Amino acid sequence: MLNDVMKVIKERRSVRNFEDKPIPEEVLKSVLEAIQWAPSWANTQCWEVVIIKDPDAKARVQEAVPKANPGNKAIVDAPVVLALCARPGTAGYFKGEAATKFGDWFMFDLGLAAQNLCLAAHAAGLGTVILGLFDHDKAAAAVNAPEGYELVTLIPVGYPAKVPSAPKRRDIVEFCREDTF
Ligand SMILES: Cc1cc2nc3c(=O)[nH]c(=O)nc-3n(C[C@H](O)[C@H](O)[C@H](O)COP(=O)(O)O)c2cc1C
Repeated sequence: MLNDVMKVIKERRSVRNFEDKPIPEEVLKSVLEAIQWAPSWANTQCWEVVIIKDPDAKARVQEAVPKANPGNKAIVDAPVVLALCARPGTAGYFKGEAATKFGDWFMFDLGLAAQNLCLAAHAAGLGTVILGLFDHDKAAAAVNAPEGYELVTLIPVGYPAKVPSAPKRRDIVEFCREDTF
């Protein structure tokens, strides 16, 4: 079990090249289930997901992503793009007040949801890439996100045409200390 989980964690890569092949609905559903079961602040589950399949809708979203972003083409090449949106002012709040000095925890909760999604997708033979570098307001407008919601990340999902090699990681001893920082 641990070995299976570690294999998925280590072998997942950011995939930016996709095959022209649709994702079966039941496979997509199982990947979305990974978001459903992500942990979140006080189980707030502040995520909202827009499932983008229509080529014109993908093209509108792509306009928000700089051409220099290595994931730009993945927006139109992947059969599905998931736009992870959040309702700020919920995660990290208690009775309308921020409960910690960090204020809103929606970025944190969406990060957990995104990683759950990417790992489940990889286990299902799919590739994903988390995109963060784009005009968020423009992308939110492209998917008609209502007032009070933010579009945080765009995640193209599909069958990988090319899987890059793993970028180097820091050694565990470089980022871990014992008992004090
Ligand atoms: C919050 C976040 C934002 C990212 N934004 C982009 C992006 O805008 N474009 C892109 O091509 N990759 C993006 N990436 C992917 C990273 O470059 C990638 O995860 C990192 O290089 C490690 O490679 P790996 O995912 O294959 O292990 C992003 C990843 C994260 C977690």
